[in-house]
Amino acid sequence: MALPRITVLISGRGSNLAALLAAMDAGTLAGAVTTVIANRADAGGLAIAAAHGVATQVVDHRTFPSREDFDAALAQAIDASAPDLVVLAGFMRVLGGAFVRRFCGRLLNIHPSLLPAYPGLHTHRRALADGVRLHGCTVHFVTPDVDVGPIVGQAAVPVHDGDDEATLAARVLAAEHVLLPAVVRWYCSGRLDLDGRRVRIRDTDPGSHDVLFAPVPDP
Ligand code: GAR
Repeated sequence: MALPRITVLISGRGSNLAALLAAMDAGTLAGAVTTVIANRADAGGLAIAAAHGVATQVVDHRTFPSREDFDAALAQAIDASAPDLVVLAGFMRVLGGAFVRRFCGRLLNIHPSLLPAYPGLHTHRRALADGVRLHGCTVHFVTPDVDVGPIVGQAAVPVHDGDDEATLAARVLAAEHVLLPAVVRWYCSGRLDLDGRRVRIRDTDPGSHDVLFAPVPDP
């Protein structure tokens, strides 16, 4: 049977893309990233994709007169890659309602906080300022409102007394690299059921998907 086709959208470094590709290389994720699309030509993840023989494309938002025109061009590029799943892996543009509805149910985003806490930007800085002891990341289905779509999986990490934005971001990022391949694996094996705002995951070990705690080395 053909592997589910995945198109990944990025804006920068691409470490989450690399985590997906590594899981596929290791044989732990039965899916194929066929296309990577970036909204910036200087996105580091484009080189990661190319090194894996994955097709790349740049759809630069700055070259379009309006948000709607950009969304339409992006949708066209995605459709051309005929994906079963579209993953926003560090894609830093807000997508309009028409775009989101077109890919509804097959559009996932990874966000660097335990939603619904800290939607939007500067999540680690805000978590530190609030003094929270638990932080993390979320993978959710994308809906027209930003960062509020149905949650599929979360991974939590502790906040240490000595943390600054960089150390906390690094700990969360390590958790992202565990969480995103796990959620994409569930999606690709057809185990996700959407029930209103709740996502049920069929046929996993009970509790295995409730919260993923990423390994955190002691200081
Ligand atoms: C990740 O931390 C991801 O959660 C975040 O951007 C980073 C991308 O890193 N995404 C968002 O903030 C989306 N609002 P990467 O390019 O190394 O995967």
